[in-house]
Amino acid sequence: MSRVLIIGAGGVGSVVAHKCAQVPEVFSEICLASRTHSKCEAIAAQIDRPIRTEQVDADNVPRLVGLIKDFKPELVINVALPYQDLHIMDACLETGVDYLDTANYEPPDEAKFCYKWQWDYQQRYREKGIMALLGSGFDPGVTNVFTAWAKKKHFDEIHTLDIIDCNAGEHGRPFATNFNPEINIREVTQRGKFYEDGQWRETDPLSVCRTFDFPEGIGPCNIYLLYHEELESLVKHMPGIKRGRFWMTFSDNYLNHLNVLQGIGMTSIEPIDYQGQQIIPLQFLKAVLPDPGSLGPLTKGRTCIGCLIQGVKDGKEKRCYIYNICDHEQCYREVKSQAVSYTTGVPAMIGAMMMLTGKWRGKGVFNMEEFDPEPFMEKLNIHGLPWVEYDGDLSGIEL
Ligand SMILES: NC(=O)c1ccc[n+]([C@@H]2O[C@H](COP(=O)([O-])OP(=O)(O)OC[C@H]3O[C@@H](n4cnc5c(N)ncnc54)[C@H](OP(=O)(O)O)[C@@H]3O)[C@@H](O)[C@H]2O)c1
Repeated sequence: MSRVLIIGAGGVGSVVAHKCAQVPEVFSEICLASRTHSKCEAIAAQIDRPIRTEQVDADNVPRLVGLIKDFKPELVINVALPYQDLHIMDACLETGVDYLDTANYEPPDEAKFCYKWQWDYQQRYREKGIMALLGSGFDPGVTNVFTAWAKKKHFDEIHTLDIIDCNAGEHGRPFATNFNPEINIREVTQRGKFYEDGQWRETDPLSVCRTFDFPEGIGPCNIYLLYHEELESLVKHMPGIKRGRFWMTFSDNYLNHLNVLQGIGMTSIEPIDYQGQQIIPLQFLKAVLPDPGSLGPLTKGRTCIGCLIQGVKDGKEKRCYIYNICDHEQCYREVKSQAVSYTTGVPAMIGAMMMLTGKWRGKGVFNMEEFDPEPFMEKLNIHGLPWVEYDGDLSGIEL
């Protein structure tokens, strides 16, 4: 029986609130707090359990500390934006409360993400005797757990890891992102990066493309090499990995729109003067693009996110592919969100459950692959994200 404070009432926060409410034996009291209080109230109204709601600016640490002291949660789940990570970690440190998030810190004025800023809290969290679990979404999150599971069950050594994220859904809008547009476009337009033989290698944005034949009737799609944060923690914690890459599908339509927007400067994060005030073009673009939350009732099709892994077991080369398929419309029927928010919010709830039930415990700052994957994998099957270990022939796949 635990009290949990969820910060952020966007697409992901809504799913986390719904899913925590489905498990009252773990999450006995829930408070949902965000910058815009009406969004918290709208989510609470969809849930058939009383949920406390609060307005909070999580960048205002004293105010957030006040809310934490008043509600007295055992855990804060941060599903606001990556810009808030350090402020929320500071408030947890001051109040001695555990912390969980789904995305690593990004400075607002630089499109760069890395774990250093949050790993730097290690000593302070240890000394305070509290725990932070970083990246408990799908990717990062479940993909780290899939990799740890593969290592535990199938391999003595993992040599190559390809994380492949496919959204084969259609929302019918000319251009929209399926999670926060600002964060999404910053991620997609930065230089690609992958790990090979102990070094990070960079590529031009979206310049490396392959085709991958997705299972269960989704079929072949173009996948593009991107840098994604779980690569940084996985190669640190699983030093045997010789090559780690991350791939994502994009439709030609998405890429054409993105090219034009980039070409005319609309994705820039450099402030410009506009009619006497400073605006950031990407933030203005976010304001005119569809709110990802509004795509829920429109999106059809499925996502397929998984890990293709090659390594050695008992001296023999071996491959495995572990994936989840999630249906946008089914998610909407259950929690009024599309599958991208769902596949992030469910693992956030399960990560919280692992911490609050003592299955995953420690003092300090942790990534998902540092814990036993088995209880997490079991809960994925129960709480809406069943996974599959592909049993077909993987020998011909070359990426
Ligand atoms: N690991 C994964 O698989 C994965 C996948 C997708 C997304 N994510 C992460 O999930 C997080 C949420 O994404 P989303 O799509 O739900 O974004 P979203 O729809 O934009 O929601 C973000 C929410 O945070 C609130 N917020 C922003 N700044 C705040 C502040 N200073 N104080 C309090 N609340 C604040 C926003 O408030 P307003 O409503 O007032 O704007 C909004 O309700 C992001 O960090 C994203 O990177 C992770």
